[in-house]
Amino acid sequence: MRIDILTLFPEMFVGVLGNSILKRAIEKKYLEVYTHNLRDYSKDKHRRVDDYPFGGGAGMVMMIEPIADCIEHLKSERKYDAIFMTAPDGKTFNQQKANELSMYNNIIILCGHYKGIDERVRELYVTEDISIGDYVLSGGELAAMVITDAIARVIPGVISDGASALSDSFQDNLLSAPVFTRPSDYKGHKVPEILLSGNDKLINEWRYNQQLTRTMERRPDLLQNE
Ligand code: ADE
Repeated sequence: MRIDILTLFPEMFVGVLGNSILKRAIEKKYLEVYTHNLRDYSKDKHRRVDDYPFGGGAGMVMMIEPIADCIEHLKSERKYDAIFMTAPDGKTFNQQKANELSMYNNIIILCGHYKGIDERVRELYVTEDISIGDYVLSGGELAAMVITDAIARVIPGVISDGASALSDSFQDNLLSAPVFTRPSDYKGHKVPEILLSGNDKLINEWRYNQQLTRTMERRPDLLQNE
């Protein structure tokens, strides 16, 4: 899978793409991620990509031309399955959406910024706006990173333990069971006995019960969606 990210701040992605699971996914060629600086597509001598809003009002608006030129350039090189834009007023991202996006071959993520993006970008290019939650970030870059990370970990092969991504919280609308490692007794705080029993059937039952209890306590809304 290939993800092209259109941004004003490509440097922000360096650390995220260069570490941990995303780094490995890219090295092992499960995933290609390319960032494109929208300023490189500005025709302005100061590389400006924003302008005042028509009709007045506070804040600047990202112009359509650099975005359109960048998208057209990419589209001339390969076919894209979808173009997403990060925006606080988009549809809320979740695990199901991450699974769905991981099935695509080529997608573009446009990072929203400033007061907004010229609405014609949405009309002409954007398949779907995505929000990562009900709060406003300073820009869409962090949202694009979150989306990219969530996609990467569900691509088959990216996580070495095949079962691991599937047992993530939310995969079956349940939160994960708690996990423990050595020591089995930390200053009197003991690991649940059953996990040391070696009885897989009982351990799996215990884990499932923990998942249900946790979900009921912390996120009852997930159970109602069933
Ligand atoms: N840009 C600003 N806030 C955002 C959010 N919550 N999700 C996605 N993009 C955003």
